Amino acid sequence: MFTQAHGYPGKLIIVEGMDGSGKSTQIRLLYSWLESQAYPVFFTEWNSSQLVKSTTKAGKKGKTLTPTTFSLLHMTDFADRLNYQILPPLKAGMIVLADRYVYTAFARDVARGVHPGWVRKAYDFAIKPDLAFYFRVPTEVGVERILSGRPKLKYYEAGMDLGLATDLEESFKIFQGMISKEYDKMIKEYELIKIDGTRDIEAQQAQMREIVGKALENFKTKRRNYARRNKVFWRRFTLPEDE
Ligand SMILES: Nc1ncnc2c1ncn2[C@@H]1O[C@H](COP(=O)(O)OP(=O)(O)OP(=O)(O)O)[C@@H](O)[C@H]1O
Ligand SMILES: [Mg+2]
Repeated sequence: MFTQAHGYPGKLIIVEGMDGSGKSTQIRLLYSWLESQAYPVFFTEWNSSQLVKSTTKAGKKGKTLTPTTFSLLHMTDFADRLNYQILPPLKAGMIVLADRYVYTAFARDVARGVHPGWVRKAYDFAIKPDLAFYFRVPTEVGVERILSGRPKLKYYEAGMDLGLATDLEESFKIFQGMISKEYDKMIKEYELIKIDGTRDIEAQQAQMREIVGKALENFKTKRRNYARRNKVFWRRFTLPEDE
């Protein structure tokens, strides 16, 4: 159930925020940091399952996706990754890093007009992350970062399906503003850890590492106890303090 702690020996750490908020930058740095300390880490990202890829592509190309079918495709993508990419490493005592999680659906799908209660209930099969970071930037900052680094916005990415504006950039700005509002509503609802995404990359990463470091205190002991209790055997991994 989404509201309860998962109980697996691994840890699930996720990043969220509007487009351009710096999620991928930060999670990449976190990955390297954890790996450098010999933690077993696994990475997964939103909308990357092979299962629905061709359907999503066809829907986008033909512009036939509705807010509901779009939501259901993302949900299938997520359910597939939860089963094959998130749960197995968590059960194996690994640290799973996810670039975007269910909150992306709660923000985007709802901005598209999907009922907030429906989408939350539909994702009830998801598990609660151990740490959920929310990178908060003013809409203009995120939009500017995306526009300066990307050649052309895509139809759905810009929210053109909502008929907000005839210009791609204009539509994107309005759509991202609506998404940001939905994210803000979730901070309290889901105890998201708010990070000021306008600070420099190093400062944000230092803050993240401090929080993650604390959450990983006793990680090894808990993992070992879990293995003993459940009579499972994992490949041994060493942390620097063992040496
Ligand atoms: N703290 C920062 N200050 C300035 N620029 C940044 C900062 N963090 C990231 N950027 C830059 O902003 C752009 C977007 O960053 P990034 O790809 O990490 O965002 P994202 O949240 O993953 O976006 P998307 O949702 O589109 O995947 C990149 O060019 C990145 O180098
Ligand atoms: Mg990204």
